[in-house]
Amino acid sequence: MEITGKTKVACLLGHPVSHSFSPYIQNYMAKKCDEDLKYVCFDVEEDRVSQAVDAIRALHIIGANVTIPHKVNVIPYLDELDKNAAIIGAVNTIKNENGKLIGYNTDGKGFIKSIRDAGHEIAGKRVMLLGAGGACRSIAVEFAAEGAASIEIRNHTQAKGEAIVKSISEHFPQVQSRYGTFEITQDELEGVDILVNTTPVGMSKDKESCPIDENIVPPHHLIVADIVYNPHETKLLKWAKQHELDVIYGIAMLINQGVEGFGIWTGHEVNAYEEIKTLLVHKGVISDH
Ligand code: ATR
Repeated sequence: MEITGKTKVACLLGHPVSHSFSPYIQNYMAKKCDEDLKYVCFDVEEDRVSQAVDAIRALHIIGANVTIPHKVNVIPYLDELDKNAAIIGAVNTIKNENGKLIGYNTDGKGFIKSIRDAGHEIAGKRVMLLGAGGACRSIAVEFAAEGAASIEIRNHTQAKGEAIVKSISEHFPQVQSRYGTFEITQDELEGVDILVNTTPVGMSKDKESCPIDENIVPPHHLIVADIVYNPHETKLLKWAKQHELDVIYGIAMLINQGVEGFGIWTGHEVNAYEEIKTLLVHKGVISDH
């Protein structure tokens, strides 16, 4: 679509941004939905965050994504926070509503969409999360908000698991939450419905590693998800597939956090996961094996 005086702009604020896949994802959806909208990336240094946020207002940018290292330090400059973003304490999406900037976090929402799109319910599920970083926090809060029965966080650093459990039990007292050590036994997995790796274990430079003992024979009902998307099929997912379990690939969360953000800005509910995945494979930014 031709750029004219009416073309709207959405953007990414981060540092660095040159490696971002978001322009492919967002500009693809804009074109598909016939939106006169262009998505660009801005490299914003740490001491320029308040100016960058003000520029969203001044330039009537319709919305922004926020990435490392600004997801937390952008918050003081916004006008309002979505409830779950406030609990998570980090923002990856901003909506400009006539100059009022509202912060959202679509990382966990995108993850939940990936599970739903694979045909699974969230309500009543017993969830185990490996790792206790920012990604774990956003996924844990959305699982709790969507009615998971229990959430168990397993991590090396106990204090980080404890902090997430504390905020889940404060805001979602109906959800049973607990934390424990990183190592998991076969017996413990019997009581889990959805297992999610939120650690970097299994990423390309460490692709032979698996966050759980591969000798474990999992229960048939277990759904296994990995947020690592490079390689596409991690050791954890290979283990799950070997036992014929349903798996959720890391690329699904990456695409769906963008789909959710686009929906917040434009109101469009885009169903184009396979198309976007094919585009990313074609652009060489991800592999499909
Ligand atoms: P993000 O904020 O993107 O989720 P992060 O803050 O680096 O990433 O969090 C990654 C999580 O994976 C952390 O909880 C980390 O464990 P610690 O809290 O003990 O630091 C966990 N993690 C990282 N490398 C790991 C490894 N090799 N084995 C197990 N856990 C690991």
